[in-house]
Amino acid sequence: MPDLSKSDISPKSIPPRGSHIVILTGAGISKESGLDTFRDADGIWSRVRWQDVATPEAFARDPDKVHAFYNMRRARNKSLDLQPNAAHVALARLEASWPGQVLIITQNVDTLHERAGTKNLLHMHGLHAQARCNHCGHVVEWSGDMSMQDICEGCSQPGGMRPNVVWFGETPMYLDKISDALRDCDLFVSIGTSGNVYPAAGFVQVAQRHGCHTAELNLEPSAGASLFAEAHYGPATVTVPAYVDALLKAI
Ligand code: APR
Repeated sequence: MPDLSKSDISPKSIPPRGSHIVILTGAGISKESGLDTFRDADGIWSRVRWQDVATPEAFARDPDKVHAFYNMRRARNKSLDLQPNAAHVALARLEASWPGQVLIITQNVDTLHERAGTKNLLHMHGLHAQARCNHCGHVVEWSGDMSMQDICEGCSQPGGMRPNVVWFGETPMYLDKISDALRDCDLFVSIGTSGNVYPAAGFVQVAQRHGCHTAELNLEPSAGASLFAEAHYGPATVTVPAYVDALLKAI
């Protein structure tokens, strides 16, 4: 790991005042808060097959197994004293201080961005702390275990409650808003994602097609690293605050 001092990380391109910044985050931004990533050597998918717990077919085949997987993650997250880290806090500071729009699109299902103070935020893969009814679509906050016995408060039917997260093969949320934001952005920054899952992994190309400058801040080069105009590698709690400081200093 290179020795990263804050001086190593200066943006190659500073967008003008009033410009729009779009930021995509993945599991890597929450790693230093204590949450596992998915594809690192010690990641979630090294312990369980996503085909068994994160597809509509898996839920139809064995709903108790899927509920057990999400119940275990919900309980683990509750047991950890999860706190936003310096990277989440830096992005909230950027949104508060940047003289233009800042939008965060996160693939993460945790609430660390909002707890750091971010307001303009889209959870394109849903939220762990919510449940959705397969019968009527009713969405409700959910903190404890979930099972097929739970009754939907919307339609009063049992057997329909599922985690309100986007599974493989399902359509991510807010894609219209995301494509509008990528069309209008001047700077697109991808943080803590391996670039393996579409459509998120393709956002960099959409942004570039509209003339947007693109940067990757990651622990190591992602699968899409060659697509970015700029890259800074290292832990998010080092690269993101340094990058944000440099952006704010330059305006
Ligand atoms: N700082 C910055 N980046 C980090 C850190 C860190 N401390 N630790 C790990 N990373 C990087 C890894 O190098 C990797 O490139 O974060 C990335 C995490 O990649 P994944 O585990 O694949 O997570 P993500 O890209 O968010 O996955 C996308 O896949 O399984 C689905 O729905 C799930 O939203 C998830 C999607």
